[in-house]
Amino acid sequence: MMDALDLMLSRRSALAQTLVEPGPDDRQLARLLRAATRVPDHGKLAPWRIQILRKPGQARLGALCAGLFEAANPEANDKQIAFERQRLQRAPLLLAVTAKLRPGHKIPEHEQLLSGGALCLSLLLAAEAAGFAGQWLTEWPAYRAEVLQALGHDPATDRMLGFIYLGSRSEPAAERWRPALEEVVGAWSEPVEAAAFGWQPPEEAPGSG
Ligand SMILES: Cc1cc2nc3c(=O)[nH]c(=O)nc-3n(C[C@H](O)[C@H](O)[C@H](O)COP(=O)(O)O)c2cc1C
Repeated sequence: MMDALDLMLSRRSALAQTLVEPGPDDRQLARLLRAATRVPDHGKLAPWRIQILRKPGQARLGALCAGLFEAANPEANDKQIAFERQRLQRAPLLLAVTAKLRPGHKIPEHEQLLSGGALCLSLLLAAEAAGFAGQWLTEWPAYRAEVLQALGHDPATDRMLGFIYLGSRSEPAAERWRPALEEVVGAWSEPVEAAAFGWQPPEEAPGSG
């Protein structure tokens, strides 16, 4: 069995449109959600919500998106509108993750958002650990007030953090570009004018992985 670090070292999203059945059933999903909601959360605000969209919910939100798209793009053809109707219906299971922000709270809003971002990644990791795969996408529907409102949220305070598409992999994940550690990690010991990176990780000892 893969340990947690191996899982993180090899984690890859699957393209949402390649996800196939089975997705997690309600029992499996409850376990993923229990794991994912154990995120760091400054102030114990639980400033996030997760909504489960199985096929009927996906179809309804998809129809709303098709209508929004058509209204914004009157010249759009049937194929493009059908694509938008299908967008949120690509995978067996869709989770809409939103931040319920408390403006003016002593916990800054960006910390509330960060906790929700951590939750989204935890969902992907938990799904992968359970043998599923997923992808975290925002795309344009995440930025439409009408979508938030249809889900029952208040666009004044609530934000769409992402749609988490879940299902089973239909194709192996290819590796993608990752930054070298030295491009993003630096050692710091005293004030400097501009941050310096270029930290050199030690050679990995054979068998240490
Ligand atoms: C907040 C957030 C929103 C994202 N939205 C999109 C998106 O709208 N479209 C897209 O192609 N990728 C989006 N991505 C990137 C994918 O989730 C994913 O990171 C990408 O497919 C690379 O795969 P990896 O997770 O295996 O590194 C988003 C990522 C984050 C963190």
